Parts: sequence; C-alpha cells; structure tokens
Amino acid sequence: MGCFSISTVLFFIVLCALFLHAHSTTHWQDIEVLKQLKNSVDPNSVSPGSCLNSWDFSVDPCDNLGGEKFTCGLRCDLVVSSVSRVTELALDQWNYSGSLTSVSWNLPYLQNLDITNNAFSGLVPESLSNLTRVQRVGLSGNSLSGSIPSSLGSLSNLEELYLDNNFLEGEIPQSFNGLKNLKRLEFQGNQITGEFPELDQLINLNFIDASDNAISGELPASYPASLIELTMRNNSIEGNIPASLIGLNFVQVIDLSHNKLSGSVPASLFTHPSLEQLTLSYNQFGSVQEPGISFQNSQLIAADLSNNEIRGLLPGFLGLMPRLSSLSLENNKLSGMIPTQYALKMVFPGEGVSQFERLLLGGNYLFGPIPGPLLDLKAGSVTVRLGDNCLYRCPLRLFLCEGGEQKSLSECQAFGPIIP
Ligand SMILES: *[C@@H]1O[C@H](CO)[C@@H](O)[C@H](O)[C@H]1NC(C)=O
Ligand SMILES: *[C@@H]1O[C@H](CO)[C@@H](O)[C@H](O)[C@H]1NC(C)=O
Ligand SMILES: *[C@@H]1O[C@H](CO)[C@@H](O)[C@H](O)[C@H]1NC(C)=O
Repeated sequence: MGCFSISTVLFFIVLCALFLHAHSTTHWQDIEVLKQLKNSVDPNSVSPGSCLNSWDFSVDPCDNLGGEKFTCGLRCDLVVSSVSRVTELALDQWNYSGSLTSVSWNLPYLQNLDITNNAFSGLVPESLSNLTRVQRVGLSGNSLSGSIPSSLGSLSNLEELYLDNNFLEGEIPQSFNGLKNLKRLEFQGNQITGEFPELDQLINLNFIDASDNAISGELPASYPASLIELTMRNNSIEGNIPASLIGLNFVQVIDLSHNKLSGSVPASLFTHPSLEQLTLSYNQFGSVQEPGISFQNSQLIAADLSNNEIRGLLPGFLGLMPRLSSLSLENNKLSGMIPTQYALKMVFPGEGVSQFERLLLGGNYLFGPIPGPLLDLKAGSVTVRLGDNCLYRCPLRLFLCEGGEQKSLSECQAFGPIIP
C-alpha cells in the first residue's frame, strides 16, 4: 500500500472533527440520573403520548433530543468536546406520580429543574443540593410532604425556588439565608410553621410569597433590602408592623392580610416612596396613625384595611393621597361623618390627584348625611359602599347604600351615645 497523501490525511481529520461535532454523547453520570428518574415515576401515571414515555435509553439522550426518542423534557449543552451535559429537566404538567427521593440528583450542569404540577409525593430530596449550578427549581403543585431540607441552602446559584402548593411542614430552614443569588421564593399553600426566618443576607431577593401556611410569631426584624413584593397572607403572624419593613426602599406590594397583627397601622406606610399596594385586611389593628403633610410623595394606589378593629374618625388624609384610587375600610369600628375630602376625591379630584374609583366604608358606625357630591354619582361609574352604618338616610335604592340596611338607632347609640 502506498502512503496517504497529506491532503487525504487532512480530509479525514476534518471529517472526523465534523463527525464528533455532530455526535456528542451524554455524560454517563447524567444518563444514570435520567434512568433513575424514569424508574422512579409510577408507570401507571405515564400515558402513551407523554414525554417520559418517549425516553428510550437504547439511544443516547442528548444526541437524540427532539427525535422519536427523547421528544421532550430535556435540554443539553456541549460542555467539553463531544460530551453533553443535561442543563434542563422540564417535566411540568404531566400528572406524573412517584417519589423524587429514589433519584440521586447528581446533575452538576443542571440549570433548570421544572417538575411543577405533577403528583409526586414523599419528601423533597436532600440530594437536590448536588445541583450545584442550578438557577431555578420548580416543585410547585405536587403532593410533597415532610420538611424542607436545610441542605437546599447551599445552592449558591439558585435564583428562583418554587415549593408552593404541596404539603410541606416544619420551619423554613435558617440555611436559606445562604441563598445569595435568590430573587424569588414561593412556598405558599403548604403547612409551614414556626417563625419566618431572617433572610437579610439575600441581597437579590425581590419576591416572597409565604401565604396560606401556619407561620406564627412576629414578623422578622430584618429583611432583604431588595424586596419588592412581600405576601404573607393567611398565616398566624402577630404583633406590630416593624419599622424595618417600612424601611424597605423598593417595596411595592405588602400583603399581610388574614393574620393576627395588631397595634397601629404606621403612618410611614402612607409616606413611603415606592409602596403601591397595601393589604392589611382581616387582622386586629386598632388604629391608623396620621402622617404629617409628607404623604404628597406617596405612590400608594390601593389600601385595604378592612375587617380590623380600627376605631376613631375616618382618617381625612386618605382623601388627599395623590395616587390612591382604591380604599377599603369596611367592617371596622370607625365613626364620625364621611369627610368632605373623600367626597371630593371621588367627584372632583384636584389637579394631579387620582380619583377614588373604589371606596368601601360599609360595616362601620359612620353617621350624618351622605356628602352632597356623592349623590350625583352614576351607578356603575365607581364602586362605593356605605351600607351597614349609622348614616342619616341611606336608602337601599341608592347604589351607594347597597350592601346592607343601616344599623338600628339602638345599635348605633349603644356604640356611641353622640350618634344622632
Ligand atoms: C392531569 O390531570 C387533570 C385532572 O385529572 C386533567 O384534567 C389533565 O388533562 C391531566 N393532564 C395530563 C397532561 O394528563
Ligand atoms: C449528593 O447529596 C447527598 C446529600 O446531600 C450527599 O450525601 C452526597 O454525597 C452527594 N453526592 C455527590 C456525588 O455529591
Ligand atoms: C387559609 O389557608 C387555609 C389552608 O392553609 C385554607 O384552608 C383557607 O381557606 C385559607 N383562608 C383564606 C381566607 O384564604
């Protein structure tokens, strides 16, 4: 045999490079995890047309993505020449059942794990802490139980963690204060107990939803300064609103409704430079602190303070807030007359001041006449509720007065003898 010419050799090298480029093989360790995952899903929950049903390990997973096998559920990236690693596992909304703990989660290149809205049960696996590069973990809407493993606190690249709508119990691990890159934390709709932990080290955290759990104790004394939205509705949190919460410079939404908070609603919530939506309904607040004139910079659009124990007169300043357009003070123990400022804000708001589009004052002990300007309002143009008070003449045929007859004179006088 003669020698190959140089160009023939080069030709084969190029061909070989092209071949390697087109065909990569999945790292053996990743294949192992994928097999474990498929095996841990209850076969009865894998319908013929479903994603997992197409996973067939007689071929290489990453090399056959999107074909007849491995039609979906995976993304891979070539990390070293010709070796692919799994970077995304997306098996959401398939109703799969089974356990996640029989998988040992060694997928060091995984960035996104999404198995939301299935029927997985059992514990949240400790070994998820081996997903060292993961940025997003979605376990929402399954039937996971037990406590949240504190090992998750070591996922230093994690940006979004969704544990909501499961049956998780126990406390939020203190270790979560180590999730330095976390932006979004959702664990609403579980059975989490204990006090809410301090998460003040999470300098990127924007969003917390802890609603519908059984969190008790007082609100934390410190918060991530980056917080934009804090929702902790429907827990058993007690005590006052701490100054540190109001000191958050970027917060736009605070929802602490359906808890056991008490004391005064602090004035500084009404002078806050970014707060737009404040929901404190269904607590035990007894009063609202009046701010000075500095509420002119307030960004507050909607305030719901209904279903508390708030006493005293309707706070006049709420009728002067520049952007406020929805106010509910329903079902408190407020008395006195409806301030002219409220009526004017509803009918002729001043230059640069938002109109009240929704003003709910029902279920109090307000007395006196309905302010004249309100009587000209057309039904349907705005939402106003004045029912179940002590107002002088508020016939149900007036749309303003719907939502209940006025209280009886004896009930009104038993509350406040000066009520005429
Ligand atoms: C999952 O279950 C629900 C309720 O049983 C059903 O409506 C839905 O179609 C199922 N989804 C899939 C992908 O099978
Ligand atoms: C995976 O995580 C578990 C539990 O956190 C740990 O015991 C195990 O050593 C980890 N495995 C690897 C390969 O890192
Ligand atoms: C509060 O959460 C419980 C479950 O944690 C739920 O049953 C209840 O309906 C919720 N209440 C409100 C007012 O959302």
